[in-house]
Amino acid sequence: MENKARKPVYYSEYLQLDKILNAQMPESEKEGIRADDEMLFIVIHQAYELWFKQILHELGIVRRVFAQENIENNTADIYNSVHRLKRICRILEVAVQQMGVLETMTPLDFLDFRDLLRPASGFQSIQFKMIEATLGLQYEQRHGKAYYLSQLTPADVERVKSAEQELSLLVLIDKWLARMPFVNNPEYWGEHNAGTFWMKYREAYTGSLSEMEMQNVKVFDAIFIDKDNYPAGRSFSAEASRNAMFIMLYRDQPLLQLPYELLNTLLEVDELLSMWRHRHIHMVQRTIGKRVGTGGSTGAEYLRGAADSHYVFKELAELTSFLLPRNMLPVLPASLVGDLGYRK
Ligand code: HEM
Repeated sequence: MENKARKPVYYSEYLQLDKILNAQMPESEKEGIRADDEMLFIVIHQAYELWFKQILHELGIVRRVFAQENIENNTADIYNSVHRLKRICRILEVAVQQMGVLETMTPLDFLDFRDLLRPASGFQSIQFKMIEATLGLQYEQRHGKAYYLSQLTPADVERVKSAEQELSLLVLIDKWLARMPFVNNPEYWGEHNAGTFWMKYREAYTGSLSEMEMQNVKVFDAIFIDKDNYPAGRSFSAEASRNAMFIMLYRDQPLLQLPYELLNTLLEVDELLSMWRHRHIHMVQRTIGKRVGTGGSTGAEYLRGAADSHYVFKELAELTSFLLPRNMLPVLPASLVGDLGYRK
């Protein structure tokens, strides 16, 4: 219904196009040098920054959901979070594709204005670093930490640091997983306890391994069996890892379908970010070869190091080493199956 009191909305004002479309200031133009591709270079970076902004917006909403102390498994909140994480995945797919547009700029076209950009670099994209931090990448885990501090203004270092200090999605998901009651609730297991489940699972798992894979058992024991020897330095607690594994194993149960979708989508976010990084590296190698970056890093070498070490949900992905085929899974107590399937 039309609200007469409101001023009519006008397309270009609503979108603030006067600001956005007047925000391309090629350095080459200022210097009176002809460099026809600098416009594309600016526009594509700005387009990325807008997508990064949208990703941060979605992550903020998801983080607020998981910051609640109690969220039931199949609520609208969880559904909404999965939906938003999937949107992030679709945006990241566009981000990967977009590199192809930039690659229409040849190395020679780039050289027309490259030197004018120093020492600016995409490395200084604070939003990109905030996405990493909001997902769960900590300062200590960053590849080339010292380099990172040297390239940013003190104000930007503070912005990233404050994002690092907030509870990241990884921390919140860890807490949510650790709270999950199924495998730990003694009510389901009679005189046995959850340990019985993991021992049964261990037997089936060990039986499924080839000789070369037998060292997996040691890791399995440390994560799932031996309460006191859970490996130090992991991002996920023992409870969270076990519950994540339980969700992956019994994801066909109605109550675990959405939690499984959530974990799977987090892995997809990690994977697509990695695809973006690798696509960026290929583009960088094609454009500047083995030369150092405008930001002064070792270029492609630095980027490869970051790409290899900046996975956030790696521990979840690694749990797949311990999966078994459905027909080998321990049968769950009937009361637990009832609760997971809404049956009483
Ligand atoms: C001709 C195009 C490009 C070249 C040659 C290039 C090159 C590089 C290089 C060499 C680095 C490492 C830091 C340095 O020494 O500068 C870097 C980092 C980075 N660039 Fe680009 N880049 C290009 C386009 C883009 C675009 C379009 C974006 C989109 C926002 C972008 C985002 C980033 C980010 C986020 C980093 C930090 C990555 C990390 O720390 O893992 N770059 N770039």
